[in-house]
Amino acid sequence: HWTMDEFVGKEIARIRDLVGKKGQVIGAVSGGVDSTVAAKITHEAIGDRFHAVLVNNGLLRHNEVEEVQKTLTESLGIQLTVVDASQRFLDQLIGVVDPEQKRKIIGRNFIEVFQETAKKMEEEAKNSSKAGDIEWLLQGTLYPDVIESIAFRGPSQTIKTHHNVGGLPAVMGLKLIEPLRECFKDEVRELGMKLGIPENLVWRHPFPGPGLGVRVIGEVTESQLRIVRQADKIFLDAIENAGLYTSISQAFAAILGGVRAVGVVGDQRSYEQCIVLRAVVSKDFMTAEAYCFPMDFVRDVATTICNEVRGVSRVFYDATSKPPGTIELE
Ligand code: XMP
Repeated sequence: HWTMDEFVGKEIARIRDLVGKKGQVIGAVSGGVDSTVAAKITHEAIGDRFHAVLVNNGLLRHNEVEEVQKTLTESLGIQLTVVDASQRFLDQLIGVVDPEQKRKIIGRNFIEVFQETAKKMEEEAKNSSKAGDIEWLLQGTLYPDVIESIAFRGPSQTIKTHHNVGGLPAVMGLKLIEPLRECFKDEVRELGMKLGIPENLVWRHPFPGPGLGVRVIGEVTESQLRIVRQADKIFLDAIENAGLYTSISQAFAAILGGVRAVGVVGDQRSYEQCIVLRAVVSKDFMTAEAYCFPMDFVRDVATTICNEVRGVSRVFYDATSKPPGTIELE
């Protein structure tokens, strides 16, 4: 068994060795702890010959692109390219309501956008004589991802088609670098602290690859995304302000598209949409329990959301455990 310091040193040396003096590496980042730690280790090893790519799929949360950009480039000095592919994803999602269909569309487009970006960068690399070809793909795969992808092989056992930035296919023709493939999540967090990654990022709740696409029940549209982003921000800000963020494993708002409820605004009848708040405590995200907020906290968040988010007339709290529920609603 290794110590964390030994591990970082060993991985940096291994990557340097693998990639050589001129080789270049590309990797998708999400702003989550896994891809950021993997990116930081690689940056320590080969500096600006590592190129991070953030695909904006139009399904990210309030200010998320700007925040990820700031952390990666300003705090960590990593070379980052942001690709805005929002419109492409949203166009492909028009009329789609089935959760697995959404996941497939989002996953496929992510791979395509990333591949197109990688290709462009490879061509640029070829035209500049300073460095060698891009031959390597960085992935933030963890040990549990490795196990799960073996355990869940076969359609009968697939509960949800998971994909994230750890899951790009080999078809890219790039060789893989997976510095975290022997690590558990808590070890990745420890590495993150060692590497000077900002603490709020190290403890960030997970966010699914398909993003808000699976938190808008029903069709994903700009106006549904606006509502869920605003509600989510109000909920998460309240959690932060109450000092509860790190006591909760994952928290978010979702919108029940297609469902409406009656309310009153002033002396007018309203007939608007429903927001669901979800907060869970979980060790490994395979099982989870709803977080027990004081009821007045939930009530105050509900009031703020109804007052501040246009188009919402009800807020519900999801009390379902996993199992029988899942953490996401789709
Ligand atoms: P569920 O909803 O299956 O979620 O209980 C367990 C954990 O996985 C995340 N999740 C996903 N992550 N792609 C991802 O990268 C997906 O399609 C996906 N679906 C769920 C979820 O946010 C939770 O942390």
